[in-house]
Amino acid sequence: MIKNIAVIKGDGIGPEIVDEAIKVLKKVEEVYEHTFNLNYVKAGGEAIDAYGECLPEATVEACLASDSVLLGAVGGPKYDVQPPNNRPEKALLGIRSRLGLYSNLRPAKLFTELKDASPLKPEIVEAGIDFMVVRELTGGVYFGDHVTTSENDVEVAYDVMKYSAPEVIRIAKVAFETAMVRNKKLCSVDKANVLDSSKLWRKYVLEVAKDYPEVELTHMYVDNAAMQICKDPAQFDVILTENMFGDILSDEASMITGTIGTIPSSSLGEGTRGMYEPIHGSAPDIAGQNKANPIGTILSVAMMLKYSFFMEKEAQAIETAVQKVLDDGYRTGDMMDKHTTLVGCKEMGDLIVAAI
Ligand code: NAI
Ligand code: MG
Repeated sequence: MIKNIAVIKGDGIGPEIVDEAIKVLKKVEEVYEHTFNLNYVKAGGEAIDAYGECLPEATVEACLASDSVLLGAVGGPKYDVQPPNNRPEKALLGIRSRLGLYSNLRPAKLFTELKDASPLKPEIVEAGIDFMVVRELTGGVYFGDHVTTSENDVEVAYDVMKYSAPEVIRIAKVAFETAMVRNKKLCSVDKANVLDSSKLWRKYVLEVAKDYPEVELTHMYVDNAAMQICKDPAQFDVILTENMFGDILSDEASMITGTIGTIPSSSLGEGTRGMYEPIHGSAPDIAGQNKANPIGTILSVAMMLKYSFFMEKEAQAIETAVQKVLDDGYRTGDMMDKHTTLVGCKEMGDLIVAAI
């Protein structure tokens, strides 16, 4: 197969981790006889440095013309002086909305080799942590009206959490489809005891459920979900939730797996084109030192192959290779314990390539 991939290295550790992911892509190209055409474009801080704007139109067009986008991470203290509409992070919101990427999939999977790194008790960890958070990405309070005003001479501010039926239906479909290829268990998280937007959410999740009789659907309030994720994460297979709840719960979910350095994510819309990126940021504290963990980005490539290009066995080969390298005891600094071998970002990439 021939696929066109727009590559945004970004800032901080972005270039280092993306370089390792590209090595993995090239290895897959060679072993499985595909052609990946890579189109390097800029966004975030690197685009501000080069063109003065965080998201040049040429970058958006390159992403729109691609079969998928691979991104490292953007941002850093150097850009704190930028006005709010030209912050590197704005580039991410811009790409998501221009590409219509309304669903964000973040797996929370604990590699058993990293179980000592989890902050949870061993008996909870041993029950297994392997679930997927499906987060709605272009609606809810982050995209509703934001107003700062005054009422009767008192300063007030409010943000509107708004969802439409079609927005709920399309993300619910993604979650049910995800559950169908996993263990057919879906937990929809809302706050339907208080919020009208959550009542609408629950109504249309139940509507979509009619098309997926095989999937066992449950509902949970978000405050309880926050407790259950650290008390008994093994109960979850797929969690479906709205934008802000998903932002918070998916960060919690990543922490219980030990390190944010290993976790990939995908953002998808109507078609098969997605944006794939690790969940962590640009880690300015370790940038340029060959210390970054490239596994989150490498597993993002595996997600791209699986969810956008339907290359199941290629994705599996990458996941198995990562597992093997961890089994063999190799770790970047963020995953280290006393029984393991410390390697740098480049060496970790090389080891994974060799294991494919
Ligand atoms: P961060 O995720 O960049 O770093 C948090 C901590 O985790 C740091 O100690 C860092 O060294 C460590 N870390 C992160 N990724 C790692 C990796 N792959 N290997 C080893 N250690 C790793 O979050 P922080 O410090 O809050 O943000 C730094 C910058 O990144 C900010 O400008 C922020 O806005 C931006 N950011 C960008 C994101 C993106 O591009 N998607 C997401 C989150 C933050
Ligand atoms: Mg977050």
